[in-house]
Amino acid sequence: MADYIWKKGSSTDVDERVMRFLAGDDVILDRQLLPFDIRASQAHARGLARIGVLTDEQAAAMVESLDELAAAFERGDFVLDNRYEDGHSAIESWLIERLGETGGRIHAGRSRNDQVAVALRLYMKDRLARLADDCARIAAVCLKRAVDEEQVALPGHTHLQQAMPSSLGLWWAGHAEAFIDNFALARQTADWLDASPLGTASGFGVNLALDRDGVAEDLGFPRLVVNPQYAQNARGKVELRALDALSAATADVRRLAWDLSLYASQEFGFVRLPAAFCTGSSIMPNKLNPDTVELLRSLHGGIVGARTELESVLSLPSGYQRDLQDTKPPLIRAFERGLAGMALLPDLLTGVEWQTRRMRSAIAPALHATDRANELVGEGKSFREAYRQAAAELDQLSRRQPEDSLRARVSPGACSRLELERLQQRLESLNSEP
Ligand code: ARG
Repeated sequence: MADYIWKKGSSTDVDERVMRFLAGDDVILDRQLLPFDIRASQAHARGLARIGVLTDEQAAAMVESLDELAAAFERGDFVLDNRYEDGHSAIESWLIERLGETGGRIHAGRSRNDQVAVALRLYMKDRLARLADDCARIAAVCLKRAVDEEQVALPGHTHLQQAMPSSLGLWWAGHAEAFIDNFALARQTADWLDASPLGTASGFGVNLALDRDGVAEDLGFPRLVVNPQYAQNARGKVELRALDALSAATADVRRLAWDLSLYASQEFGFVRLPAAFCTGSSIMPNKLNPDTVELLRSLHGGIVGARTELESVLSLPSGYQRDLQDTKPPLIRAFERGLAGMALLPDLLTGVEWQTRRMRSAIAPALHATDRANELVGEGKSFREAYRQAAAELDQLSRRQPEDSLRARVSPGACSRLELERLQQRLESLNSEP
């Protein structure tokens, strides 16, 4: 272990077991934060130079050395492990090893408390942008398939009982709209937390005229978390909202995965999943199992668990408390796992093959009863009377064709009027926003 940056020479060493306990997986999780911590450290150094705390040469040397650290980390030549207390200490140690006394100047006007808070905000902005991107790509695949398979008949279920003739167009467009909403939510959440806590130090500010606005701008934040105390109190609160955005998407992934696993069962036989997303059984030679779809279904469970874990940590007084470190594992694990799953969906959805004959023949004549009732309404009957008549004449529906039913479903959003352009336009306008 490199020396702790807070070691003051004469102080008694902290028990190694205690240090291990305090660290937990912190240094491993900081691997996800290190690139952001490096960027923020560079902006901080430039900011210190602007107010004369560093010379321009000192700041430039730091920025350059931190570029080298970022590159070494990316190549795998620099490994962030428990030689260091955390990623923040690793950055300072790197600078001191390379720049000597100059390196020891990086921590002027900041604390690890604002350092971790800014790295986490940058991390969340990055991951929410990826989430938004994944949602947009999933929505685009669903919309494309809705166009291509618009009029393909599919039995519609309520209560898992056959209900009315429906279409692949309606099914795909329904999932497309969900992911457009999730796309918008990821964007809004990223905007909501887009504020820089850097320069609030330990939670009380410092007696240096830091150029906080300039540093925020340098890092791409449009505003500050102004109050130093709130910069700490907001930790966990913003992470929760980020997980909410993620969980809105994974909840919809769960439904979609549920539909696919049901439709892929032999009893339904509506869909064939792409073989590249399935695995075999170790004992039953006949099997091809939909494991990917199943783990996509359970993905949401992990996100909900992470959210609960995170929220449980937040019963805290104002200011920095070390408890806040425990908001990192649920946030980071949820995003790494969640995004790994989401990224599979566009190809999975592109590859599903519908068994259209089987879907069509699963539509029993009785499914046309609601259409019949509404036709009688068109002839002037009250709906209740029409309903009773249609119920009494269920055996007279056997000549009806699903395609006619779909064609007649003209209410906006329904099978013959899916209004895919409206969904397309909303997706495009979100895509064209910066
Ligand atoms: N790993 C710590 C966290 O996530 C970094 C901040 C440490 N600050 C401190 N005062 N010990 O909260």
